[in-house]
Amino acid sequence: MSKSTYVCQQCGFGSGKWHGRCPSCEAWDSLVEEVGPAARRGSPVRSSQPVPYPEVASTDLVRTSTGLPEFDRVLGGGLVPGGVVLVGGEPGVGKSTLLLQSASAIAESGRRVLYASGEESPAQLRLRGARLAVRSANLLVLAETDVDVVAEAARRSRVDFLLVDSIQAVRCAELTSVPGSVGQVRESAARLVALAKSTDLPVVIVGHVTKDGSIAGPRTLEHVVDTVIQFEGDRHHAHRILRALKNRFGPADEIGVFSMGDAGLRGIPNPSEVFLAERASGAPGSAVLAAIEGTRPLLVEVQALVGETAHGSPRRIALGVDGGRLAMILAVLARRAGIDVSGRDVFVNVAGGIETTEPAADLAVALAAASSLAGRPLAERMTILGEIGLAGEIRSVSRLDARLREASRLGFDTALVPAGAASNAAPGLRLVTVRHLAEALDAAEVA
Ligand code: TYD
Ligand code: MG
Repeated sequence: MSKSTYVCQQCGFGSGKWHGRCPSCEAWDSLVEEVGPAARRGSPVRSSQPVPYPEVASTDLVRTSTGLPEFDRVLGGGLVPGGVVLVGGEPGVGKSTLLLQSASAIAESGRRVLYASGEESPAQLRLRGARLAVRSANLLVLAETDVDVVAEAARRSRVDFLLVDSIQAVRCAELTSVPGSVGQVRESAARLVALAKSTDLPVVIVGHVTKDGSIAGPRTLEHVVDTVIQFEGDRHHAHRILRALKNRFGPADEIGVFSMGDAGLRGIPNPSEVFLAERASGAPGSAVLAAIEGTRPLLVEVQALVGETAHGSPRRIALGVDGGRLAMILAVLARRAGIDVSGRDVFVNVAGGIETTEPAADLAVALAAASSLAGRPLAERMTILGEIGLAGEIRSVSRLDARLREASRLGFDTALVPAGAASNAAPGLRLVTVRHLAEALDAAEVA
């Protein structure tokens, strides 16, 4: 007898076998395999007493360091007991490397770690470990794809920390669908979460995500786990950015920066220096933005290239900034400041693969574009901050002090900021305040 049922995710219709189209609501491809009621019946119902709010014990979260300060920062200070973290990213970005390094560091500190891999044999892990100088006997390795066997091994070995690489490679024996299918991924994750919650074991799960973020898996897990972390960066660059997308135990949007080298990942505590290191000096079209990523200020270079359109309609390409936002900035430049780029190609790029969605980046984008069009570079040691409104007004930005302090620390001497901004947080930094886009273009000498 089959222990599983197929359940329509649209209408809840259940069936003993799979259908391409739900017989009840006629939705296509909506049936997902789940563990049936017969298999669930075995588990006894626990009784649990509601507690009046004032009697809820307020415990400070005890955090365990991952051994990698940049990873800890993204988690909000480290792993918490019973917390489940999903680390998602494209294949090859370095997820297994990150986890093995972290596992090794935790093991070195005297705690026991189980690294369960459904993807690699112990011999393959050993090869990677050799590059990363892994050696602690507190690090236990298990090549296993059955999620219940992994959970049982974690219980039996009394480990302090469990890593599962990856959720697409493990499966539950009760389900017949292949590993990596929505049903398998969801049920496997549910069991790991149950293990974490019942034993207070911190669990980190790897999930592969393709470029469009779709593939069956991590996206369907985001609400099941406590923390979702995305590992970004492309294989052709050494930079890797770890970003918290959701965090029940810390701030979201926090980032950690690493560089991938021959001996694995190295944390970069001063990312601004790295992101600005390759900036060409005296080049038109380059503006420096003091961005905020999570809680951390980060200086990044916004580059623009404005040129003649070779043929056809002009191209607008935005990398690292929002395309709609770029279109709005160009429209305001034209209508409110007389800088018209219609009929020209405009490319905007944030160097180093950083993505910024902050409105505070508007003015840097506008001035980079104007600088490129005019063929005149912006002042080398100037940082630019401000949101642009549709009337061309420059609006205030959040966390100004933190941004200016970072600019000053990196030797910047001028900051173009919205009118009314005042700060004595950054000695040595001259503030040039501007009320309107036209005023900013004048101040920056790119009008
Ligand atoms: P990996 O951690 O296997 O990626 P994922 O688990 O996300 O699929 O790492 C992938 C790449 O990293 C691989 O192309 C090799 C490279 N790498 C290094 O450059 N240095 C190293 O020390 C290691 C271990 C890997
Ligand atoms: Mg891997």
